[in-house]
Amino acid sequence: TQIRHIVQNMPKAELHIHIEGSLEPELIFALAQRNGVQLAYPSVDALRAAYAFQDLQSFLDIYYAGASVLLKEQDFYDMTAAYLERAKADHVRHTEIFFDPQTHTSRGVPIGDVINGIHRACADSEVSATLILCFLRHLSEDDALATLEAALPYRDKFIGVGLDSSEVGHPPEKFTRVFARARELGLHLVAHAGEEGPPEYIWSALDVLHVERIDHGVRCLEDAALTRRLAAEKMALTVCPLSNIKLRVFDTMQEHNLLTLLDAGLVVTINSDDPAYFGGYLNENFLAAFDSLPLGLQHAHELARNGFAASFLPAEQKQKFL
Ligand code: HPA
Ligand code: ZN
Repeated sequence: TQIRHIVQNMPKAELHIHIEGSLEPELIFALAQRNGVQLAYPSVDALRAAYAFQDLQSFLDIYYAGASVLLKEQDFYDMTAAYLERAKADHVRHTEIFFDPQTHTSRGVPIGDVINGIHRACADSEVSATLILCFLRHLSEDDALATLEAALPYRDKFIGVGLDSSEVGHPPEKFTRVFARARELGLHLVAHAGEEGPPEYIWSALDVLHVERIDHGVRCLEDAALTRRLAAEKMALTVCPLSNIKLRVFDTMQEHNLLTLLDAGLVVTINSDDPAYFGGYLNENFLAAFDSLPLGLQHAHELARNGFAASFLPAEQKQKFL
């Protein structure tokens, strides 16, 4: 249909993509072979068959196992280059890519190899791409602080920090000091909050960490005062429709609250989160939402525009997309 065609072809920004979540099963097996890593699954099909998740943690267990094949700088380059090709095909003009250094440094991979490999692929791409270093919230704040210090020789290669991994039981305030340090360094700040965790985690991401966007944030609607505040401050939510269905945040796409969020005046963006695991890249996320919810052409333009508006592009570059 006409609207599907417009949604697919319009220029878009992507603000919530974990690069390790773009690792397709075929590339996992190719890198395992190249690096002599033993996988727990005998074949690509067996691995893909394991992609049936009950919740965030059951996904994270498989996601970290998949990332274990990444050892060399070139592996990080190849993974990132493959994602950027898919993004380009979906008419993504700008992307702000999350990466999880602790997933790799804990296996002995030098942080410089992680950052340089991902960054070099970004520099080689036609798509505008910047990097956001994420701390794993199931690990300690001291581990996050050490990770930030270890990344400082590469300060020019990332624009911000984020917070991801197991949400419930690991509230934003656990990371007060490391976010304060990142803020002093002039880094942009984001955090996952209100995916599985309660609205209180969104409040503390705002008031304690001072984040500039909320990743997911879909549970904000449980708190009317919070919803009003997010709207008043034009605080963007990086919503990930297919992720929310695969991780059972909502039972079906028809029940997703994306349109309700828009109607509440929130700056909603659409993103892919972990496209290799959740069934699609950015266009598939847009199409899944548009196929299941009563969204129209105005919504398509608003969602695309929000992606650029909520980006960390410098004002002059941002203006060209708006
Ligand atoms: N939530 C938390 N951590 C993550 C996610 C997510 O959706 N994807 C990759 N790491
Ligand atoms: Zn995420």
